[in-house]
Amino acid sequence: MTSEILKFYLNGEKVELKSFEPNMTLLQYLRAPKVGLTGTKESCGSGVCGACTILMMYFDEKINKPYITAVKSCQLPLIYCNGCAIYTIEGKNTALKQKLTPIQESFIKHDGAQCGFCLPGTIMSTTALFEKHQLEGLRPPTVGDIEETLSGHTCRCTGYRPIFQSLKEFLIEEGSKPPQLEIPKFPSELIEANKQSLHVNGNLWNFFKPKSLDEFRSLWKLHPEASILGGATNSNQIFRDHLTKRTIISTKSITEIQELEEKDGMLHIGAGVSVQALLEYTRSRLTEAPNNHSTFRVISKILPRLRSKQIRSVSTVAGEMMSVSEFSALLVSLGAVLHLESASGQVSHRIPLRDKCARCEREAQKAAATHPASLHARPVFAYDTTSCCVIACDEVGCQLITGISLPLYCEESEEVKQFADCVLVSRRKDNFPALMMVVMTATLQRIKKEKADESAASVWKFKEVSLALADGRGNGDRETTESFPSALKPKEKNEEYPPPIVVIDENVEDDDEEPASPSSSSPFSSASASASSPTESTHAALKAMKNSKRPFCIVHKLPSTAEFILTRSPVLSSETIIDAKQVMRREVEEILLTGISSDDSTDTVYSEVCSRLPSSCPPLPSTWLAKRYITVAAPDALTRFAYNLSQHLETKINTIVPEPLDLSSDYPLDAYDPISRMYSETSSEKPLELEPEQTRFTHNLQKYSFDYEKVDTLIGKPMSNMHLQSHATGMTQYTVDVPLPPRGLYAEFILSTVAHGKIIRIDGTEALKLPGVVDIVTAKDIPGVNKHTGIVMDTTIFADEVVECMHQPIGLILADTPQIAEYAATLVKVEYDELPAILTLEEAVEKKSFLSMYEGSDIVLGEPLKVIKETRKAQEKLAEKMKKGVPEPMENDEWVVIEGEAKAGGQDHYYGETQNCVVIPHDGMVDVYSSTQNPSKVQFDVAGALGIPRAKVMCKAMRLGGGFGGKQDRPCILATAAAVAAKKTGRAVRLVMKRSMDMAVHGGRHPMWCRYTVVASKKTGLLKALDAEVIAQGGYAHDVTGPVLFKCAFQLQGTYTIPNIRVIARAAKTNHNPNTAFRGFGAPQSCLFIEMIMEHVADVLGIPQSQIRDINLNKVGDPLVTGSLISQNKGEKFIRIMWDELMKTSDYENRLKAVEEFNATHTNTKRGIAITPMKNGACFEDDFMNQAEALVHVLPDGSVEVAHSGIEMGQGLNTKIAQVAAETLGIDISFIHVLHTSTETCTNTQPTAASTGLDLNGGALKKACEQINASLAPLREKMKDKTWPEICTTAYFSRYAMSGQAHFILPTINWQWKTKTGFTAFYYAFGVSVSEVEVDCTTGEYTILRSDLIEDAGRSLNPILDAGQVEGGFIQGVGWVTGEEIEYDIATGAMLSDMHTYAVPLARDVPLELHTTLAHGFRCDENVGASKTTAESPVLLGVSVLMALRHAVNAARRDRGLSLLRYQISPFTVDRIKLAIEGVLDGEDGMRYTIMI
Ligand SMILES: Cc1cc2nc3c(=O)[nH]c(=O)nc-3n(C[C@H](O)[C@H](O)[C@H](O)COP(=O)(O)OP(=O)(O)OC[C@H]3O[C@@H](n4cnc5c(N)ncnc54)[C@H](O)[C@@H]3O)c2cc1C
Ligand code: FES
Ligand code: FES
Repeated sequence: MTSEILKFYLNGEKVELKSFEPNMTLLQYLRAPKVGLTGTKESCGSGVCGACTILMMYFDEKINKPYITAVKSCQLPLIYCNGCAIYTIEGKNTALKQKLTPIQESFIKHDGAQCGFCLPGTIMSTTALFEKHQLEGLRPPTVGDIEETLSGHTCRCTGYRPIFQSLKEFLIEEGSKPPQLEIPKFPSELIEANKQSLHVNGNLWNFFKPKSLDEFRSLWKLHPEASILGGATNSNQIFRDHLTKRTIISTKSITEIQELEEKDGMLHIGAGVSVQALLEYTRSRLTEAPNNHSTFRVISKILPRLRSKQIRSVSTVAGEMMSVSEFSALLVSLGAVLHLESASGQVSHRIPLRDKCARCEREAQKAAATHPASLHARPVFAYDTTSCCVIACDEVGCQLITGISLPLYCEESEEVKQFADCVLVSRRKDNFPALMMVVMTATLQRIKKEKADESAASVWKFKEVSLALADGRGNGDRETTESFPSALKPKEKNEEYPPPIVVIDENVEDDDEEPASPSSSSPFSSASASASSPTESTHAALKAMKNSKRPFCIVHKLPSTAEFILTRSPVLSSETIIDAKQVMRREVEEILLTGISSDDSTDTVYSEVCSRLPSSCPPLPSTWLAKRYITVAAPDALTRFAYNLSQHLETKINTIVPEPLDLSSDYPLDAYDPISRMYSETSSEKPLELEPEQTRFTHNLQKYSFDYEKVDTLIGKPMSNMHLQSHATGMTQYTVDVPLPPRGLYAEFILSTVAHGKIIRIDGTEALKLPGVVDIVTAKDIPGVNKHTGIVMDTTIFADEVVECMHQPIGLILADTPQIAEYAATLVKVEYDELPAILTLEEAVEKKSFLSMYEGSDIVLGEPLKVIKETRKAQEKLAEKMKKGVPEPMENDEWVVIEGEAKAGGQDHYYGETQNCVVIPHDGMVDVYSSTQNPSKVQFDVAGALGIPRAKVMCKAMRLGGGFGGKQDRPCILATAAAVAAKKTGRAVRLVMKRSMDMAVHGGRHPMWCRYTVVASKKTGLLKALDAEVIAQGGYAHDVTGPVLFKCAFQLQGTYTIPNIRVIARAAKTNHNPNTAFRGFGAPQSCLFIEMIMEHVADVLGIPQSQIRDINLNKVGDPLVTGSLISQNKGEKFIRIMWDELMKTSDYENRLKAVEEFNATHTNTKRGIAITPMKNGACFEDDFMNQAEALVHVLPDGSVEVAHSGIEMGQGLNTKIAQVAAETLGIDISFIHVLHTSTETCTNTQPTAASTGLDLNGGALKKACEQINASLAPLREKMKDKTWPEICTTAYFSRYAMSGQAHFILPTINWQWKTKTGFTAFYYAFGVSVSEVEVDCTTGEYTILRSDLIEDAGRSLNPILDAGQVEGGFIQGVGWVTGEEIEYDIATGAMLSDMHTYAVPLARDVPLELHTTLAHGFRCDENVGASKTTAESPVLLGVSVLMALRHAVNAARRDRGLSLLRYQISPFTVDRIKLAIEGVLDGEDGMRYTIMI
């Protein structure tokens, strides 16, 4: 029976939808004004971050029980909710009658969030996990389960420590009990609904969800043009298309293709089986027979690292095949057989994938020659570099995958053993595209009977070996193209890019193929096939390939290496492995780098690579690096295979393969190794063993000094963020949740698609024809000035005549829904006359393209140039004398000149809540709701754009879902544009940036390049002089580049005494969107550079790094480039105390020894440890910015309204403000109510930035409260024994002044550029960190074993919040120096990074142990509560991880006879680490391969 009504339960209430447009996701439905469940957040909109996670219950017919799972609602079509009970965060409370669940309570208790934007999603995921285990009577979730769940969630604020802490409450391993959850009953009427087929016919989509294969076939006959949908997690494109009428048939409910069956040594997987179900099946099979079934081991090891559990629970095996993912590559490499059914349903095929190469190649060439390319469909399957199968294609719906059969490699007889293994490497531990994957399958045969003293190597020989390499990232990432709004796609320059994927499909005639005819009972049964000429699908797939331009995860067979291993049998010795690696390296190089000179350190290679790659590829350096990475790393997979094979054969590793196969580690990177996991998967009767991964669970300690515990004042008291409860219940309202008034419009930017060009024409005709589109807004609609943001007003609201960068806003499209607006923006055609563009920092330097304002602003202390010159002269003289053999007295030989360069990459803010605003016009005024750190600036710019007085603009900023500096100036881009649109239409306008657009348009941390010359004493390591040039990548306009750069220059000295310094600071002008403020504002770059310089000096002088740092550490009274206004000399004392303390508490010296011992005994695993200090100045350099306002009203009931000009963005400012207010007024904190920040209450204010949030606003607030105190003092004296509310009531009736308003300024720091005098900071905050890492030298992957942090928070105003800031900031710093790399296409300037390819740290990337300490006993008496800020400085602590990684890499290089690493770059990604270990990236030569954009 087919239903035409979508029936589901939402938070316990029945929903029936009849006439609705089915191309809507569940998230869009939940957040739409009619439903208004905004507790479920949208952050990435692409299934990565988990902010949108909801809990879904459905009736599983197979087990005849309700099933619970967490699902990412941004990837779930609403129609897929049929027959389901959906719970959102709001519903969890309703279900429990407004009571908090134990999980919510725990997150509140352990400060499990800061900005709170990620929290509802995380709570829903973990709730689903515990509810599922409870409902199904499974053993309680383990640490491994929790880690796996968290890997689907991104938290940019906390650093995950408190999230782990919140969940430890429920772990048996931690001595706790699982929570007892009230699980709502599954509504019985939904059981029936689930059994029905569904048909919804909307205006755009005609959607079918059949229940059986027969039904599917009939539908397909009727609708041969239909598209197939599996889990729909890779079908964003069709959801975005609002033009094309489509028929869609979903395979999700077809019962016959949901089966998993083992038969004849094969696992038959129905096409509709979810990837998570496959994983759970393989795990359960491993539990039964852990030593057999290599295929199960491989799947259990690899699948958890791909996507997240929430996506795997929905995506199907067939969908994966068609997505050409790592998973499909794995299946191909394992020798999968694909079951296909033709459109008619009359023919089916079984295609053994791995063995089709040669035939495919021939056919492919034929097909490519005959069929011209055009658009629409896209390729779905790639195999081998030149010869690939395309087995179906989505748009034409040519063929249905019914299932996949997979060999199990399970033969385990006396005579024969089978083996399969896989090495997958990725830049992040979870949920990230692979850099590379290598798969081996083998059959071994016994050649003689074993004697006691014989090794397996001598009794077994290889009978069959197959090796395959899946090349992921190097080929470009499909996700980038697919998930990017088409509006952002760069103009295509090279239409001639040859198709990498070739087609073959239906007319399969090879002997090894068994033709089959379909059967309605099982998709795996066989019959006869028909042979026909290339069909529609082949044509369409061909067209698709051309259109795609980007090969995805391509599988290359490695026959030469396999053959070599086979012929070297029977002995699998270390020699065989070493030789096989050579063969493999040559084979891989041939595949990936054919035609490229083998001398990879020359310019020729570089330019050759440049000229060979098409413009549509990702930026050259990373593409090239990725390919080099594979050539270097892939052969090392053989080491691991040999290691695992020896275990499989139950032989001692060294008897089969002696050195260098040592892979031992206390912290195996392969956390999901099935053997260890197995124990956690056993039934609850068996005792739980501590598996290795359990030791991985972050054991964090957060310490603040004991006197805080005893503190009896509110200031200084450890208190949780006051908004936590509303975060945990989904009640917190962010700007993006503010309801849009009736008739409100949704806007979408029209962005430039060239980096530099004159605009000839903007044609919105096609877009305006689309139903639901209301208007188009461009520069000519701006009534006021077309300018905004920055210190120099050189940024346009909409590009007028010329565009100066890719993705520059040109206009807005206004529509009735956000989805229509987004699609319509892609239909606007803009014609350009292209102009030359500068797209790299290097090119800008070469062409002397600088942002003019900042030239010549160098900073000098002492006489660095003189010192350098004299030292050079002395060295030359000495060298001459040495040549002549004349001995030189020691004093002339004391100093050495060292030169080098270092590069620091950019960083995206990646805040949870993307940039957004709502503008509401009324009464000749506008109200702007903006997610901004700077409401007064928004007010200023909007007034300018509209040509109205500032007083007619109100800007309100609710709390932000993260800011990190990205919302300091850039929100003006949105607010001004939306205000122009609101003015033009007279209607309210909402503008929300999609994540990829947010990343592309808003700039980030400035990439910087530092070239330096340093003079140091050979004897002592003391530094005498430093001459450095720092160049920042500014973009096409100034924004805040100047102050960012200056801060880097001012702080380049770090915490060290260098008596002679010159720093030249420049900002390169390129054709990119301007970079902007980011937590630390230039200080992280300065810290990175100075620490790299210290390392360089240490390496040249052969002195341990910690010693060089120690000896040069500032002493009280030493000269500084610029000092701080207060505590100038105390700070230097602090850093010494903190350094000594951390050396002691982290046990640095002993651990260094242990690291060295470990390295001496390990070959393939190396450890590194480093200690780095930091300092960071607080306050703006421009005096006028150091001001703030506060307004306080006491109400007659005693409640107090507090308004201030700072912004709460997760750092806990409102909580600290409430503490200051309550303490100053002498009342309980529960009376304090902090209002949203608004220009109506406090205006003429400054951004919450430069670490000033509390210092300025706390100061203003204290003054305002003191005014109230002064007014009420007589009455309070009179009513001493009365309560505060009683006093307030009396005060009101007795006409006392009950309000205070105050303005606060910091003392003048008076920095003068002309004279270079004055101070650049009010005070400095200091810190030290120690990090220890372990690197897997075969892949470059690493684990941070432990980090110890100490931070100076003065006398912390709130140690809980400050320690939270330190942890979160540290992890943000770690992300910046390790995985987070912004990538651009250097040919077009298009941003290539997006949420799928930008590696923000996830839960398993953080240190296994984290010790955070707030320094004890420090005070900064001149500041509020004697505290210091912790807002920005912790980011700098992340540098210790980079230095520790370099230490480990150098240990590996030493083993290889290589010199110490001089390639000084951040981020030090997994691929760069491996290339550095192997000497491909070395010194200055290597620097060339990292171009700064
Ligand atoms: C957050 C996230 C991260 C990801 N990361 C990666 C990554 O790192 N690497 C990577 O390669 N991929 C990645 N993917 C893509 C992932 O592989 C796919 O989303 C998923 O496998 C698709 O499965 P599905 O069932 O949802 O397919 P759908 O989206 O339903 O369909 C995908 C394609 O398969 C076709 N199809 C589905 N079923 C059938 C069938 N039975 N017969 C014929 N055609 C069919 C559809 O027509 C469509 O063309 C990621 C996706 C997400 C959401
Ligand atoms: S996963 Fe859905 S919004 Fe990020
Ligand atoms: S608290 Fe997790 S993103 Fe802000």
